[in-house]
Amino acid sequence: MWRADDRRFIFVTGKGGVGKTTVSAALARALAARGKRVLIAMCNAKERISSMFASELVGPDIVHIAPNIWAVNTEPEHAFEEYGRMMLKVPGLYRVVFHNKYIRSFLPAVPGLSEWAMLGKAWFHTTEVDAEGRHRFDVVLLDAPATGHGLDMLRVPKVIVEIVPPGILRRDAERAWKMFTDPAQTAVLIVTLPEELPVTETLELIAAIDDDLRLPIGALVVNGVLPVLFSEDEARGLVTLLAEPSESAASANPSGADGIRAAARRAAEERAQAASLARLVAGTGLPRIHLPYLFEDASAPAAIERLSANF
Ligand SMILES: Nc1ncnc2c1ncn2[C@@H]1O[C@H](COP(=O)(O)OP(=O)(O)O)[C@@H](O)[C@H]1O
Ligand SMILES: [Mg+2]
Repeated sequence: MWRADDRRFIFVTGKGGVGKTTVSAALARALAARGKRVLIAMCNAKERISSMFASELVGPDIVHIAPNIWAVNTEPEHAFEEYGRMMLKVPGLYRVVFHNKYIRSFLPAVPGLSEWAMLGKAWFHTTEVDAEGRHRFDVVLLDAPATGHGLDMLRVPKVIVEIVPPGILRRDAERAWKMFTDPAQTAVLIVTLPEELPVTETLELIAAIDDDLRLPIGALVVNGVLPVLFSEDEARGLVTLLAEPSESAASANPSGADGIRAAARRAAEERAQAASLARLVAGTGLPRIHLPYLFEDASAPAAIERLSANF
């Protein structure tokens, strides 16, 4: 079983709606239960983590939401200002810079700067230490924006390292990039569904990360896996039944026919799922973590707890 335990930074990515936030919460729960202090960093997201932990709402300031778990929902503007305050240590100077109307309207327009503000802040929290020299957080878990934007975000420190002249910005980006590219410290977790299109996009995403960014992918998380109810033979039989016009059966026994149709639909879903899983296995040698499809509210604390057993 793949374990994230020794990593300092985990980047949870994948297409929109595949379950990144659910996975981030479940993984955080698992790590916290094993004694790790975890920070879940979200990127200006619609806040849903509080329902997963039955906690207070999570905004741009770090809050403690469960034993060993903290969370923050980073807003780019807020993060710029925090960064500015750290960099421009002269009291008042950051206010002049960051409260300047021109700069305020200009900063978000610099390509990549909003992404770096959020990613850089998440990275910064891996570097914080308390008075005893102990890391404030053992691991920072970044619940990344959906695929395209997630990749854009990861590309920013690489670009800064490559093109920005030496200075504070470049120094931090270099330190962050060193951590992100180190498989001992960082893992990218790719969340996907056992369905045709998400699998195709996942294989493309893996290729893009391997070819271009060269970041260490820890594992694939296949979310929403249906338990298999039917054997190959049963499935084939049922799917044939579904394809046949069943008026006579329906008129003879309407509720029985409905039952058969439901079973046939399920068998068809299971076959499609098996085909998608086979494509994932053939297309990558990455470790896989399967999360079951939950026939309940997956954002309830009990569901997150249940899913955490897979990490
Ligand atoms: N294993 C699962 N079983 C059932 N529903 C799930 C599962 N994982 C996620 N969901 C539901 O799917 C929706 C999208 O999940 P979410 O974690 O918000 O995705 P993302 O962060 O990638 O957009 C949510 O309503 C969530 O509760
Ligand atoms: Mg999300």
